Amino acid sequence: SSFDFGLIWDSLPLLIAGAGVTIEITAISVGLGFILGLVVSVCRLSGWKILKAVAVCYVNILRGTPLLVQIFLIYFALPMLIGQRINPFLAAVAACSINSGAYVSEIFRAGIQAVDRGQMEAGRSLGLSWMQTMWYIILPQAFRKVIPPLGNEFISMTKETSLVSVIGFEELTRRGQLIIAKTYGSFEIWLTVAAIYLVMTLSIAQLVSYLERRFATDDRN
Ligand code: ARG
Repeated sequence: SSFDFGLIWDSLPLLIAGAGVTIEITAISVGLGFILGLVVSVCRLSGWKILKAVAVCYVNILRGTPLLVQIFLIYFALPMLIGQRINPFLAAVAACSINSGAYVSEIFRAGIQAVDRGQMEAGRSLGLSWMQTMWYIILPQAFRKVIPPLGNEFISMTKETSLVSVIGFEELTRRGQLIIAKTYGSFEIWLTVAAIYLVMTLSIAQLVSYLERRFATDDRN
């Protein structure tokens, strides 16, 4: 059979709506992952041994197991523990946020450690507490340094959220599968799905490079 452009044209509205859902779940996950990652990275660098250990365990477990398995654990296994079904959206957001948080915490840790040690010493000698120095002196400098890797994380998650299609959450990839189940147009649909992901990731890359320039600093440490 020949390539069916009509099928692409007819499916486009559904797929673009699916892309909207992909962006939504990505933004929520990276947003929550950002907060989680910030807290975890500060715990990790704190002098409190227990907090440090918890942070290290969190990062190791979440980075050391597949996101796909984490999604299955939250959607299928967790309900057996709590005796309550979880809807696919909640499971998807939970899995992606918790996973992203681990990666973001490592990004922040690198960013914080890239700020000159003397900044903490200066803050402390001015009478600020460790936490105050972290919040008011170190983190604002670290934020600028982590814009590029955070952009990469956003791009990664845009693609990684395709995994939540396995629990039936209707983002872009799941929409593609459903359309193919009806029309058998594997070639046309997967090509279109790929093209839409590419447009999304390239757009985010553009946005990130703008932000990078916007918040650029001339001093390189
Ligand atoms: N696909 C890999 C996995 O299953 C990478 C996940 C990447 N996650 C992230 N937040 N960047 O573990």
